[in-house]
Amino acid sequence: MERHIQTIGILTSGGDAPGMNAAIRAVTRTARFNNINVVGIQRGYQGLIDKEFLKFTSSSVSNTIQRGGTILKTARSKEFMTPEGRKKAYGNMVEAGIDALIVIGGNGSLTGAQLFAREYDIPVIGLPGTIDNDLYGTDSTIGYDSALNTIVECVDKIRDTANSHDRIFFIEVMGRDAGFLAQNSAIASGAEAAIIPEGSTDVDQLAEFIERGKRKSKNSAIVLVSEAQKDGVGGAFYYAERIKNEYPQFDARVTILGHLQRGGTPSAYDRILASRMGYAAIEALLEGQRNIMIGIKNDEIVYVPISRAVKMNKPINQELITVLNVLSM
Ligand code: F6P
Repeated sequence: MERHIQTIGILTSGGDAPGMNAAIRAVTRTARFNNINVVGIQRGYQGLIDKEFLKFTSSSVSNTIQRGGTILKTARSKEFMTPEGRKKAYGNMVEAGIDALIVIGGNGSLTGAQLFAREYDIPVIGLPGTIDNDLYGTDSTIGYDSALNTIVECVDKIRDTANSHDRIFFIEVMGRDAGFLAQNSAIASGAEAAIIPEGSTDVDQLAEFIERGKRKSKNSAIVLVSEAQKDGVGGAFYYAERIKNEYPQFDARVTILGHLQRGGTPSAYDRILASRMGYAAIEALLEGQRNIMIGIKNDEIVYVPISRAVKMNKPINQELITVLNVLSM
């Protein structure tokens, strides 16, 4: 039998991502529009265990759509990974009268949501909030577009030095296990190559890139390197070291962009995406949906079972690899 939802809890978990506040705002305002109470849970699942609850009203989310980070704060809770932690979290939810949970986060956070929902029969709706864009069933995740724009802005600046000094720059970007940030920021910044975990295992991506460069007689180059590499090998320093040893005629440098990729004002695209997804999360709950992630496909909101969103590997469109190769001539 469908339960009547009177109060929802909302939390952000895992790495923060630009646009999370826009999502919190959309969820809160749509819930209030439908006379549903909102409890803001601070510091992700850890806050559920520690009862860090705030009563959220429409004005709690005023003046937040443009802000980076997350007003609810976030955490990667080790305690929630234990059955005891989840039991405590459930007890606190019941005590606070929370009937359903909205979780904004990436792969790990939604995996936790799925486990919790199965153990305690709680309606959970996930929103894909991660700069990595690695959730299956959605064309984009909240924060991905903003991070891409941040990376491209940085690469444009580094290009000036690469050109002036005739250097090869290996710029390492985030993405944990996925190469979306590296591949697409390489295309957007006019870089010479991207080294990503989804690339072919049979090809030495570095040797291939050097060969291509020689053919095109380039003196400087930008290579976007995904922090996620295969077989524990990788990172921009690994490739710069190989240049030093195998191609000493080149002058290589490394830049690790790090956490600056996660900060800053969300792009207009992310704000709109987060607003649509936050609205859809409440609509889905009202329709009786549960244990789904809200996604976007061809500009249409879709519901993806959380089990698929977190388990299936989201493929990189091979055309992007070809486009970069052809255009970097
Ligand atoms: O999942 C988001 C992400 O930014 C990854 O791209 C990165 O590997 C990881 O988080 C870094 O996590 P932390 O901020 O905990 O170091």
